[in-house]
Amino acid sequence: MARPAASAPAARHYLMCRPTYFAIEYAINPWMDPAAGVDRERAIRQWEGLRDLYLRLGHRVSEIEPVDGLPDMVFAANGALVVDGRVYGARFASAERTPEGPAYLDWFRKAGYTETREPKHVNEGEGDFVTLDDVVLAATGFRTEAAAHQEAERFLGRPVVTLQLVDPRFYHLDTALFALSGREVAYYPGAFSEGSRQVLRALYPDALLATEEDAAVLGLNAVCAGNDIVVAAEATALADRLRELGRTVHPVEMDELRKAGGGAKCCTLELRDTPDPV
Ligand code: ARG
Repeated sequence: MARPAASAPAARHYLMCRPTYFAIEYAINPWMDPAAGVDRERAIRQWEGLRDLYLRLGHRVSEIEPVDGLPDMVFAANGALVVDGRVYGARFASAERTPEGPAYLDWFRKAGYTETREPKHVNEGEGDFVTLDDVVLAATGFRTEAAAHQEAERFLGRPVVTLQLVDPRFYHLDTALFALSGREVAYYPGAFSEGSRQVLRALYPDALLATEEDAAVLGLNAVCAGNDIVVAAEATALADRLRELGRTVHPVEMDELRKAGGGAKCCTLELRDTPDPV
């Protein structure tokens, strides 16, 4: 039977949130320094650059209205986890971000998603869950509770593999690992406990192992769709490795948003199977 070419264009549907109210008003990860300040206009330009890139690549982008007083809401990846059109809502670890959970769930309900779940356990959405073809990788250690992994597994009907994060700079799974396809990953081993490194080696013996330098510019906070990979401009060694693998690399400037500890992937929530056009 004819199979689609590996490089077939893969149009995606992403949810994003304009950084209209972006600021660093508190510190909930080591990247954030409220005294340093941010250039919001610059953050908006970088965010628009990312959104326009997705549109040029043929993806669809929906936008959720930003909320005044929620400066981290731009990091849409934390808003939910959507698999097979089922929406597992977020429950944030910090009080500062807690109102984002209901705000995102509300968007999904209004957009026509009927299978939504208000979570019992703390989880920060796709920030700590990476969906592959056969498994969902999920992290715990800084934000998401392991109990949420089981809750997501039951709700989504997909096997969830628990991984332990150990380096506070890489507090979400999507700062340490990304999917290169439905069956392959790239990751920075130093972000994971020894046990989790063993699990990753067993599951993905051919994974791309990133350097600490690439991880330290949030290079692992990358977005892959088919052959295209959107990656932080500063992650040059990672970009070279990806090009050697035949990938098309799209470098993006995200340094203003990185001051809050987020990159391209953090600004992007993938909507897998939308019930209706939103
Ligand atoms: N300041 C945000 C926080 O610490 C950044 C979130 C980044 N998002 C992500 N998916 N890694 O919660």
